[in-house]
Amino acid sequence: MTFNMNSRSARTSQPVMDVIARRWSPKAFRPEVPGKGELISMFEAARWAPSCFNNQPWRFLVTTRNDPEAFSGALACLTEKNASWAANAPLLAFQVMRETFEYNEKPNPWSGFDCGLAMAQLILQAESMGWSVHVMAGFSRDRVRETFGVPEGFKPLVAFVIGREGDPDTLPPHFREEETATRERKELFRAGTRGIHLEEG
Ligand SMILES: Cc1cc2nc3c(=O)[nH]c(=O)nc-3n(C[C@H](O)[C@H](O)[C@H](O)COP(=O)(O)O)c2cc1C
Repeated sequence: MTFNMNSRSARTSQPVMDVIARRWSPKAFRPEVPGKGELISMFEAARWAPSCFNNQPWRFLVTTRNDPEAFSGALACLTEKNASWAANAPLLAFQVMRETFEYNEKPNPWSGFDCGLAMAQLILQAESMGWSVHVMAGFSRDRVRETFGVPEGFKPLVAFVIGREGDPDTLPPHFREEETATRERKELFRAGTRGIHLEEG
């Protein structure tokens, strides 16, 4: 038995929180830009993520279509493939990671973990308000550094877009296929692994 809420929802083997099941990474977006209050809610959700020594190593660089110069500067940082669909998103941003602890300036091996947690909170908050987030590794770190003047000790970690899910038919054919394909995950318990033994029920 699977639990399914819309065509792109995760077909989970057990019920999970709505926002987790509904979240996915679209490439087609409607042009509507998130309002200021909605954006603040998303970044507020990220702000309250747990982090090692409460170091909060995440920073965000955010551009929207409302500022075409900043938006095209951000777009120029993406790989050609990502730029080809992200160009139609209303908001393009980067998460930047502080590499050291603030209290002693020593390297923080957990910064990446903390940034991931903050991004997960942002994504789920966005999803709960009807906004989709698509994270990307395909961009030039150096170009982000140059374009936005990212200082030493900070590392551009991921790019991401935020928008309302759009019509897959607006995408080029190769993307359209991906956009509508069945979403897959590894099995929860795989043969040969020592899983947790649960009673049926
Ligand atoms: C760190 C990270 C990097 C990613 N990089 C890209 C990317 O460069 N381009 C892209 O189209 N999707 C990218 N994705 C999205 C993944 O491909 C996507 O999350 C995965 O296929 C699962 O699909 P779902 O998010 O719809 O469940 C990235 C996701 C993460 C978390």
